[in-house]
Amino acid sequence: MRKIILLSVLICGIVIPTFANNNPNIIPTPNSIVKGEGVFVIDNDLTIVSDNVKDFSAKYLQEKLETVFDFPVNINTSKKSEKYIIFTNDKSIKEEGYKLAIEPNKIVISSSDNSGKYYAVQTLLQLFPPQIYSGAKLRIKEYPVDVMVIEDAPRFSYRGFMLDVSRTFFDLDYLRSYIDWMSNHKLNRLHLHLTDDNGWRIEIKKYPDLTNKGAWRGKDELIPPTYLSGSKRYGGYYTQKEMKELIAYAQDRNVMIIPEFDLPGHCLSSTAVFGDVTCGTSTDRPSACGEFDNVWCVGKESNYKILENIIKELADIFPSPYLNIGGDEVIFDYWAQCPECQALMKKEGYEKVEELHGHFVRRMEDIITKHGKVMMGWDDIQDFGGLRPTSTVVAWRGQAKGLESVKKGQPTVMQAAQYLYVDMQYTPAERGHSWAAIIPLDRIYNYEPLQDMDLTPEEEKLIIGVQAGLWTELMQFPPRFSEYQVFPRLCAL
Ligand code: ACM
Ligand code: ZN
Repeated sequence: MRKIILLSVLICGIVIPTFANNNPNIIPTPNSIVKGEGVFVIDNDLTIVSDNVKDFSAKYLQEKLETVFDFPVNINTSKKSEKYIIFTNDKSIKEEGYKLAIEPNKIVISSSDNSGKYYAVQTLLQLFPPQIYSGAKLRIKEYPVDVMVIEDAPRFSYRGFMLDVSRTFFDLDYLRSYIDWMSNHKLNRLHLHLTDDNGWRIEIKKYPDLTNKGAWRGKDELIPPTYLSGSKRYGGYYTQKEMKELIAYAQDRNVMIIPEFDLPGHCLSSTAVFGDVTCGTSTDRPSACGEFDNVWCVGKESNYKILENIIKELADIFPSPYLNIGGDEVIFDYWAQCPECQALMKKEGYEKVEELHGHFVRRMEDIITKHGKVMMGWDDIQDFGGLRPTSTVVAWRGQAKGLESVKKGQPTVMQAAQYLYVDMQYTPAERGHSWAAIIPLDRIYNYEPLQDMDLTPEEEKLIIGVQAGLWTELMQFPPRFSEYQVFPRLCAL
């Protein structure tokens, strides 16, 4: 008799039984599942057939199968047994798409690129017991998989997750776990918020104090304790070598890491290190996160040389075509009082101090373009217009900001806080923020990136994708609270 297959909603540990005649629970739901007759019984005759025995997806599949099965699964370049899983190339299949055909004696995985191949493997793994992810040794001798054909390809090319590693520092093992969890669910962009007031997290060789001093907060540190980090030294950073290793790990799993250097506000971890890059003026208005003196001066020409030196190193570390310069939530008061900023306004004929923000963003765009990258930033970067048509906006202040960005012709990623900020509470009874919304699981599951926009088909193409984001105030208490906030909401995305 056919056994009940237990499939889980992956990491979150909710176990949902599915029966042979129902469609399997695959997350995200594939475009098409066509069930056939019978089962493919996996046993110790199974081999994997791949042109390249060192292919990442083939080896990944082998490793996962060998975890739960009681026998070795060899990879060969030709068919050496009656039962096999074979990888084939099919140029007609869309980018990142695949066809997974489970037949009575073989499984045929067709794709036109490595991403599709990897995603077919992820789908296949979801047909096995969930221990295939935990690494538990089940020693299964035989396992039936229903005959069916699954076809899938993504609607959006950009499917992401943003993680704030500044307010809470996450070590490399933890980031690797996030990359695994994301790629298990076919998410392909990890946006790392590497700098903010509370910590600078990436080694810059020309300016070692950014990490020697800017990566740490505490009683005797340059950056004061925040978010209950306590009087002890708290922080950490990634060396360039470590980041390059992480990037390679992510690339194998079809995840692109996009760096964010948040400018010109949210910058205490760099302004405190350099000292003289601010205007030197003051205000009694704190930043959105309660900080002061955290804004770079726009009028000091010497600042652009420092910023270019940092951007040049970031461009060398990260192969991502994008470099994100943040641009959000700047307090303009400092610029209003500053002789150099005022002189710049006069020279450029700006009437409002806010126009200096547009000026700064366009200068950064020039520098980023010069170093071969496309500028990305929060929707604040489009407030003053004049961006290159490639510059890509992450809309966080709701659907209206996404609409505005599209109407201005910018490629746009939707990260509307009201749906996609997973630092928000699940329910009013739980921990978390609520300023954007209460975000239970169904709110994110039912989110439609194009909702409330009424775009033409041409305009729709400018919405390149969607990402959830985790801001990390107080995320280290209790340990792994970040995972509670992220999952299963990221699966729902
Ligand atoms: C943001 O939440 N300030 C992008
Ligand atoms: Zn200034």
